[in-house]
Amino acid sequence: MKRFLRGLFYAFGPRARRVVRRLAFAPVDAWTLLRHGGRPRYNGIPLPLPGEIFTGGGDFLENGLLFKQHFQTLGHLKPHESVLDIGSGLGRMAIPLTDFLQAPAEYHGFDVVASAVEDCQQRIHSRFPHFHFRHVSLVNDLYTLEGGSADTFTFPYTDDRFDFAWATSVFTHMERAEVQNYLREARRVLKPGGRFLATFFLTDEEALTSAKGGAYEFHVQRGEDWYMSADVKGANVGFTPENVQQWAVEAGWSEAHIHVGRWSGRSGATTDFQDIVVFS
Ligand SMILES: C[S@@+](CC[C@H](N)C(=O)[O-])C[C@H]1O[C@@H](n2cnc3c(N)ncnc32)[C@H](O)[C@@H]1O
Repeated sequence: MKRFLRGLFYAFGPRARRVVRRLAFAPVDAWTLLRHGGRPRYNGIPLPLPGEIFTGGGDFLENGLLFKQHFQTLGHLKPHESVLDIGSGLGRMAIPLTDFLQAPAEYHGFDVVASAVEDCQQRIHSRFPHFHFRHVSLVNDLYTLEGGSADTFTFPYTDDRFDFAWATSVFTHMERAEVQNYLREARRVLKPGGRFLATFFLTDEEALTSAKGGAYEFHVQRGEDWYMSADVKGANVGFTPENVQQWAVEAGWSEAHIHVGRWSGRSGATTDFQDIVVFS
């Protein structure tokens, strides 16, 4: 059922999908506003309403707080470090960090959806001026149909600029040449000794088998990569762990440590929903 509804949803274009979501969630949004006497807030920042959140399921704030922990425990993030948020969305990762990152340390985020960037500038940058958001015009058929190609995109930052970077639930919507480029670019803009945390759907045999019949079954294979939708390539994309580790070496990373996630329903120890890879 979930797969059928997802297929139906993908029949719309990216902008229309956001409107459909707003309409479908209108009663939930109204209830949220009523219950909280306005938008719920974190550290004074108004949070997006459920119908506005086009960047993934689950509890927006809880997930952000969870990754704030992952950044510290897995990525060794410290309050005085400057950070880069690749695919910053609606600020799910940025907001919980506003009471952690201390100026002059800077947060920079970029994203392909202009309205999301404007929204973060209004809600977050206006209150925390050391948090910066930038729109980059690139195509991703799940999010925007206009712009250049991410596989040759140069991040708009100088070399050796950041201590820590992340891409949460972003490479799960990008194609292999784009991910390979982003791994190289992340390496370039991070200082020597910098760390990069990225989430993936790592589609090894065990994950593919465990996911069969569930909401996260990958059923379209192109080469060695797996897709959830034949029509919208960015819908959800899976790569083999071997490929990701090979791309890491090619991009100049000396280590790519995998923390297995529970998206596939596989047994054994897991860290988060998606697989997390920490490049160092
Ligand atoms: C599932 S959302 C996750 C957003 C955010 N990272 C989070 O965890 O809440 C994926 C985000 O990646 C952005 N995105 C997609 N392709 C991108 C690209 N090539 N470069 C930067 N951002 C991209 C989308 O616009 C969207 O905001």
